[in-house]
Amino acid sequence: MKILLLNCQTSEGIKNILLKDELIEYIGSKQPAHDEMLDCSGLLVIPGMIDPHVHVRDMEMVHKETWETVSKAAIAGGVTTIIDMPNTKPATTNLHGLNAKREAAKKAKINYKFHLGATENNLQELEQILASDPTDVAGIKIFLAGSSSNEVITDENKLKEIFKLAKKYDKVVLVHTELQSCLDKWQQKIAEKSIQIHNILRNRECAIKGTELVLRIANEIGNKLYICHVSTKEEIKLIRVAKESNKNIYCEVTPHHLILDETILKQVGNFGKVNPPLRTKDDNNALLEAVIDGTIDCVGSDHAPHTIDEKIEDYSIAPSGFPGLETALPIIITEFDEREIPIKRLVELTSTKPAEIFSFENRGKITKGYFADLAVIDTENESPIISALFKSKAKYSPFDGSMVKAQINTVFINGRKYELNVE
Ligand code: DOR
Ligand code: ZN
Repeated sequence: MKILLLNCQTSEGIKNILLKDELIEYIGSKQPAHDEMLDCSGLLVIPGMIDPHVHVRDMEMVHKETWETVSKAAIAGGVTTIIDMPNTKPATTNLHGLNAKREAAKKAKINYKFHLGATENNLQELEQILASDPTDVAGIKIFLAGSSSNEVITDENKLKEIFKLAKKYDKVVLVHTELQSCLDKWQQKIAEKSIQIHNILRNRECAIKGTELVLRIANEIGNKLYICHVSTKEEIKLIRVAKESNKNIYCEVTPHHLILDETILKQVGNFGKVNPPLRTKDDNNALLEAVIDGTIDCVGSDHAPHTIDEKIEDYSIAPSGFPGLETALPIIITEFDEREIPIKRLVELTSTKPAEIFSFENRGKITKGYFADLAVIDTENESPIISALFKSKAKYSPFDGSMVKAQINTVFINGRKYELNVE
């Protein structure tokens, strides 16, 4: 491979970055010897996004997405590494499911790991996998409620056993904290079922209660806990307090929970149906504050593709979730620019922290000796998000038409160059 020199704007100012084979060989103000120069002055270069929350599907759900299409979507969005969620068919709840996924993932063009799925009775199967010290397993995912073809855990003792297992093998427990018993209560309480009141039906109380529960158990067991897609200001408060005394607590925000609120559902209907639901402006503000003060560790896209035919079904039938890989970085970069939040903080949230939490060695920073996973981005020109042009099979988005000041120009994955918008 040629030795390539990039001259770009980084979060630390204008730098020369030398790429040799799959690694970053140099970053600084000198001009080391090179075969080729990529002049990206005026463009921003950041480490490629490491997205800890992606539902790839494939296998028995190739109609929704495959490892090929997800790779293209990730690259188009400046995402160079993903971690895949276990609620697939087959599910990643035992070695058979994991091996099927390993086979399917061979088609990937991006870096990846997998989260295992916990059920009420697969502790031994999880241990069988973890005991072999798999480097491709990042964490163990738990759903406290049904959301999209996933197993639910309701028994507190089972939760404790899983937390203990994760601690023994130093893996992170990731939790979708909406609590099923609470959701059931609200479903019964409210007769009307419509997307406009998704936020009432899947009530905030249920996410808050679940978050409270898992924080309590994690404090008792001492394992690493990662709370997925925090959506309410009350959860932020609970997590902020918990983090003061427990360094093993982490949490994630999605671009949609950070920026959108339930009022958009009037325009986008089920295309904005997601769990946990889009909440209120008040919640957006609390999440933004938590992004700024460091309470939130990572941005996860929760890329959750479904077909358009499925999404246009009635509210009660349409699945929750929408694609996020192609919008996450552009939306977050644009928001940070408007709020004057430094790019350095963005890089922590989208690359450095997820690399640390999920043990991606030598990734997540632009540093000598690290892998050359980079996103080169035009942050000068404004353009709309056009979901019809997505590389994902799911060509819709509640962000459709939003103006962003972040076009992904070029992406490097392990030193390999992908030019975007070049036919
Ligand atoms: O909206 C969602 N979609 N939330 C989840 O928890 C699962 C996801 C999916 O897999 O579609
Ligand atoms: Zn998810």
